[in-house]
Amino acid sequence: MRTVHRVAELRSAIDDIGAVVLVPTMGNLHAGHLALVRQAQSLGLPVAVSIFVNPLQFSPGDDFDAYPRTLAADCGLLAAAGCDLVFAPAVTDIYPTAQRYAVVPDPTLADILEGESRPGFFTGVCTVVLKLLNLVRPRAAVFGKKDYQQWRVIEQMVTQLGLPVEIIAGETVRDADGLAMSSRNGFLTASERSTAPQLYAELTALANAVRAGNRDYAALCEAAAQSLTTYGWTPDYIEVRTRRALAEPSAGEPLVVVAAARLGITRLIDNLEI
Ligand code: PAJ
Repeated sequence: MRTVHRVAELRSAIDDIGAVVLVPTMGNLHAGHLALVRQAQSLGLPVAVSIFVNPLQFSPGDDFDAYPRTLAADCGLLAAAGCDLVFAPAVTDIYPTAQRYAVVPDPTLADILEGESRPGFFTGVCTVVLKLLNLVRPRAAVFGKKDYQQWRVIEQMVTQLGLPVEIIAGETVRDADGLAMSSRNGFLTASERSTAPQLYAELTALANAVRAGNRDYAALCEAAAQSLTTYGWTPDYIEVRTRRALAEPSAGEPLVVVAAARLGITRLIDNLEI
């Protein structure tokens, strides 16, 4: 496995290796990321993983400084997983001068849900992902459904801008008790960690109610939010939406339930296709 930090090194590595499948990450890798690497490998091309904590997608007061940076451990996991190339640039490699150009995604998709709770978040994500795609020029890139809205925003960016890359989605990997794996789970105290699986439990109960024929989405979401609040969560949103546009449910469209809630200082997101 080759590990490169500078853009010039990346270019010469890609020249040697040929077309790759890219898995963009912010590091502090866990089994969810490694599942995306395996999915990328299944395409039969060499796999590149980028590790970059992107300042553009953090707002002032977010956890940019506290975000866990564990490059040596990450590289150990990736080498063991058979990854071919790691691109781990510094902020000054990706943004050598202040970034004045940005990809502003469709507000109807990007200013709702996560985008409403975190203004500018998807502009930061799209800008760095476009830049990574341009630097690495992968044949395909893999994103997790764990960040459902992010996957949909990137899919739409790639379609609308005609980018020559295939976007592939990986299923959410969970701990045995249902909690979706996340680099932010490490911020949870022991007692918060024991409460954390409740988010997935609420999503599962809600999805089962819809599958059983309940169409009163507002009441179901309100009950789930109430239940979380009782156990000490502060929900940002729990919503039933269409899977692609994340719009209000309409007859015949496949649905997903998406949620974000804070437990102490930690904000967790999760979702479940219904
Ligand atoms: P990060 O949070 O590190 O996630 C990297 C990729 O791993 C994303 O596609 C995310 O959806 C996926 N992922 C995270 N947890 C997962 C889980 N439990 N199961 C399956 N996949 C999971 O998402 C980002 O970084 C950044 O926004 C990025 C796209 C790299 C742009 O900076």
